[in-house]
Amino acid sequence: MIKAYVFDAYGTLFDVHSAVARHFDKVGESPARVSEVWRNKQLEYTWVRTGMKHYKDFWQLTAEALDFALAAVPGSNSECRQTLLDAYLSLDCYKEVPAVLNKLRDKGAKTAILSNGSPKMLSAAVENAGLTNLLDDQFSVDELKLFKTDPSTYGMVTNKYGILPSEIAFQSSNRWDIAGAKAFGFECNWINRTNQPDEYDDLAPKKVLSDLNGLLD
Ligand code: LAC
Repeated sequence: MIKAYVFDAYGTLFDVHSAVARHFDKVGESPARVSEVWRNKQLEYTWVRTGMKHYKDFWQLTAEALDFALAAVPGSNSECRQTLLDAYLSLDCYKEVPAVLNKLRDKGAKTAILSNGSPKMLSAAVENAGLTNLLDDQFSVDELKLFKTDPSTYGMVTNKYGILPSEIAFQSSNRWDIAGAKAFGFECNWINRTNQPDEYDDLAPKKVLSDLNGLLD
């Protein structure tokens, strides 16, 4: 019996590539590449900093990753830096998100975010997308000064709700995050929006879905 549906934020509820997409013409010669390097570096920084226990919050890492991407991708326009960072605070949410959250709550389940995002980033994104009243909680790893996949980050949810990991359905589009959540004991649904090949075969999700609508089946 699932008592709470918990969602990763970036890539799962919010489209991380919508910041560059919105300002495609200002970014330079290879906007899609900038967006990809930006996201990959942002995640790499979380893993490296958690490994060495040297925390900086996700907003700082997002800015540092963007600086790297603009410097690394030839033909990029560094003058779009602030515009892109501002856009990151109001990313588009995927179109099915509000209706799916509504229906899960109608079934009596709790709904929450569990994200690497700092509290300020998360509340800005949630508010901008009109999701504030559709979420019971926004769990930010900032409270622990560690990033996913440290087990204590997933434990924030079980600690607050006083329920078992197996009573929580965790959704992420990031396969590495699904691996971490599965290792902790959550029931996991991998939201494979971009048709990626599977990995971490010893830490498999219960279901692989192309978007969040499959949670209602
Ligand atoms: C998050 C990132 C990892 O929201 O997508 O935690």
